[in-house]
Amino acid sequence: MLLTGPDGLKALTTAYENGSALPGFVAYNLETVQGIVAAAEAHPDHPVLIQAGSSPFKHAGRDPLMRLALDAAATSTARIGVHLDHSRDLDEITACLEAGYTSVMVDGSHLPFAENIALTREAVRRAREHGAWVEAELGALPGDEDVSTNAAAAPAAMTDPAQAAEFVTETGVDALAIAIGNVHGFTAEPVRLDLDRLSAIHSAVPVPLVLHGASGVPEPQLRAALTRGVAKINVNAELRRAYLDAISAALPSALPASDTVTVWSAGRAAVTEAASRVISTLT
Ligand code: 13P
Repeated sequence: MLLTGPDGLKALTTAYENGSALPGFVAYNLETVQGIVAAAEAHPDHPVLIQAGSSPFKHAGRDPLMRLALDAAATSTARIGVHLDHSRDLDEITACLEAGYTSVMVDGSHLPFAENIALTREAVRRAREHGAWVEAELGALPGDEDVSTNAAAAPAAMTDPAQAAEFVTETGVDALAIAIGNVHGFTAEPVRLDLDRLSAIHSAVPVPLVLHGASGVPEPQLRAALTRGVAKINVNAELRRAYLDAISAALPSALPASDTVTVWSAGRAAVTEAASRVISTLT
């Protein structure tokens, strides 16, 4: 069933209070959406978020991917929210809210502080009209959302605790994505989260925190983050890798028969397995 905005926010708050987190899984196509849904159904006590857009819209098209994700969530037995990931575009945010997205991420992290506040405030205003909750970002996360670039975290771009407190007060945002050494995509060396900085942000900020770039974060660090206010983790590269490994393995025997179904099915099953593994670490 589609986890409504208010229920999703309640699930986020519950995770925050219990030292757990909602996983936000990025989806690009039918198989990734279905793979995520199957993983959610295998863990009925743990709500999940399908993050469909904004970057995946470039691949699948906005309307088809929106409808796919919303329909898959609504017809599932699991509790699934549909979330807009990393949007800089208020028109895109409005389109997703009107379609029924239950939460959105407005990403003004590339903007000067005051402009990030103004953009986020407007996104919060629009989301409130639809009962959706809002995540924003302060501090810049290195890397690319769709490919692993082995990016390095830049200390100067990490989230400042005092600014984070001001940002949350000024915007009324429900959750804050933070830069604490996390990176989008896999890196050659495992990332090291700045857990002291995370503790300081957690003490200064009264809302759940969001850890982007959760793929490849060593499990002890992930667990430490959950005890320091992180209540949503974003996972993309881990699903992409699982999908690609599975279809690569299936291709040699499928190619002679032009058998696409076997390949797509292998990719979908691998996404389910990878997403299930992530959910298991959170329960
Ligand atoms: P990873 O690709 O590192 O899992 O990051 C995902 C993410 O943060 C999406 O917003």
